[in-house]
Amino acid sequence: MRVLVTEPQPGKGIDLLKARYDVTVGERGEYDSEERLGEVIGSYHALLSCLSTPVTSDVLRAGKKLRIISNYAVGYNNIDVETARELGILVSNTPEVLTEATADCAFALLLSVARRIREAEDRLRAGEFDGWHPFGFLGTELSGKTAGIYGMGRIGRAFARRAHGFGMKILYNNLERLKPEDEKKYHARWVDSLDELVRESDVLSLHCPLTPETRHAINKERLAMMKQDAILINTARGPVVDEAALAEALHENSIGGAGLDVFEMEPKVHPDLLTAPDCVLLPHIASATRETRARMSALAASSIISHLEGKPDHAIPTLVYQRNS
Ligand code: DGY
Repeated sequence: MRVLVTEPQPGKGIDLLKARYDVTVGERGEYDSEERLGEVIGSYHALLSCLSTPVTSDVLRAGKKLRIISNYAVGYNNIDVETARELGILVSNTPEVLTEATADCAFALLLSVARRIREAEDRLRAGEFDGWHPFGFLGTELSGKTAGIYGMGRIGRAFARRAHGFGMKILYNNLERLKPEDEKKYHARWVDSLDELVRESDVLSLHCPLTPETRHAINKERLAMMKQDAILINTARGPVVDEAALAEALHENSIGGAGLDVFEMEPKVHPDLLTAPDCVLLPHIASATRETRARMSALAASSIISHLEGKPDHAIPTLVYQRNS
């Protein structure tokens, strides 16, 4: 059986696959175009894709032998899952293994923005540190503030644990309300609407998937509802935020700051964000720890192996759609 891995990755996943199948590993970026992928996909039984791999309807239809797409990510908005389902091609992702790393990164962004870490360090490196200053780089404290979490799945909950540890109050909005015991466990209070969450939060952290409903959920109107010193954190998906509207809000100082790991048109970053104040921008690194990336690799490979070897109950938690048969 033939497996296409779109590009090299850390971890043992590729070796696990090579021990069983005829594996092709692309160069970084080689399969980031639909045309290129469409040309070759017809001879493969499995595809191990990255977020940058456009697994479109045309690619899926060209994949006549394709049985599984295993995405090296928890998000799978790069895959046309409806067409995959229609064609009976299973789609898997890598949940759970990256939860802690992603929540750590969201919190790192939050602390950097709240305490103006990037700006202060830049000044020091520029030789502008002239000694302790009573007014130097005044930031904001997290303790006692309200963290609003939009999307209370695994990563949202991991963020809640961290926020509670920092003495923050926690509000959340999610597709479904948590069970009372989980609300208690995460010290989290449900609010009925995103509008209410946006209005009440000192820190708004996004942990929802990208869906038609969440695209531009944080738009001009909602940015205007935020408190003037509130901080927005996005480690979910770029298009959840209207980047142009966010850049405008930052330039006008109508919100306190933003920490972003994801962007609307990656790898492009809106030019007005690059010049915006109170803003920390990272190149989509939330899951980038050696431990997490190794676990993602093993999980992505094991989904392919279990599926191609007909043991469908192995790695079931990773299955997005079950092959029709
Ligand atoms: C994901 O897994 O969806 C992250 O955004 C990339 O690791």
